[in-house]
Amino acid sequence: MNKKDFLTLKDYDKDTIETLIGLAGDVKKNAGKYKKILSGKNIALLFDKNSTRTRLSFEAGISQMGGNAIYLDAASLQISRGENYSDTAKIFSGYLDGVIIRTFEHKTVEIFAKNADIPVINGLTDSYHPCQILSDLFTIKELGLLKPGLRFTYLGDSNNVASSLMIGFSKLGIAMTIGSPDDYGPGQGILQYCNKIPGSDIRVEKDPERAVKNADIIYTDVWMSMGDADSKDKIKKLSDYQINKNILKYASSDVKIMHCLPAHRDEEISSDALDSDRSIVFLQAENRLYAQKALLAYLYETSWVPE
Ligand code: CP
Ligand code: NVA
Repeated sequence: MNKKDFLTLKDYDKDTIETLIGLAGDVKKNAGKYKKILSGKNIALLFDKNSTRTRLSFEAGISQMGGNAIYLDAASLQISRGENYSDTAKIFSGYLDGVIIRTFEHKTVEIFAKNADIPVINGLTDSYHPCQILSDLFTIKELGLLKPGLRFTYLGDSNNVASSLMIGFSKLGIAMTIGSPDDYGPGQGILQYCNKIPGSDIRVEKDPERAVKNADIIYTDVWMSMGDADSKDKIKKLSDYQINKNILKYASSDVKIMHCLPAHRDEEISSDALDSDRSIVFLQAENRLYAQKALLAYLYETSWVPE
């Protein structure tokens, strides 16, 4: 089977991640070069969960690269009546050239990738969101900040986005701090995995003020991810971890604020922080398009050369 998947950043080494980030910059500058890479290709988006950015950036990106995107609400497929993922993957392989999957259990994308002859891209699972992190790393690079010495803090619930950030930063050998309370910090599995990566430097800090001290970038995400049960206890435990005017006093005076969006305004981030001139969330969201196109160029075309 000669195809490449993108399930987590675990499968990608430092050089490839850096190449993808560089390629995203090239796509942003020279869109014309990438117009035909997906010519004649049909790529499906099989989504079990809602999406605005991931869906639209892939659909627009695929179309801009000459391909055809087919959006599939998983609830309308025979999967929802019990047809299994391995059979579905074989069927998809007969008609399509690739699939982007957004679902609950990470195992689902692994089963799909194992049984499909076409590239499988993880568009978010309960465990990881690698497409988001590719765009985030590109955004940080674009601002000239992606280098050792960067003080980067993820504040809040250590969820799928946090895990993928931990993998991405560890692979690049750049330190990061996770500021999370007891019960909502990173699991031992992901910590142990990252700690084994040469150059990994992940600090877990329970005190939110210490976690953001002198930070150049503070990143947060929702406290209740898709599929999470509502929990008052979780909201209470995370309440001191909101990005707001007060917490920002501890960060660098030039701190940048990141959020993968959608935001629950005035929960994990105050509206004034989200809308402030420190916030780069809309650049981050726009860059999803270029990162997605870079990933597609990498998966489908081996002869590109970033300028
Ligand atoms: N950040 C992100 O993945 O957004 P969507 O859920 O809108 O795709
Ligand atoms: N952690 C969030 C990210 C949404 C883009 C979720 O999984 O719902």
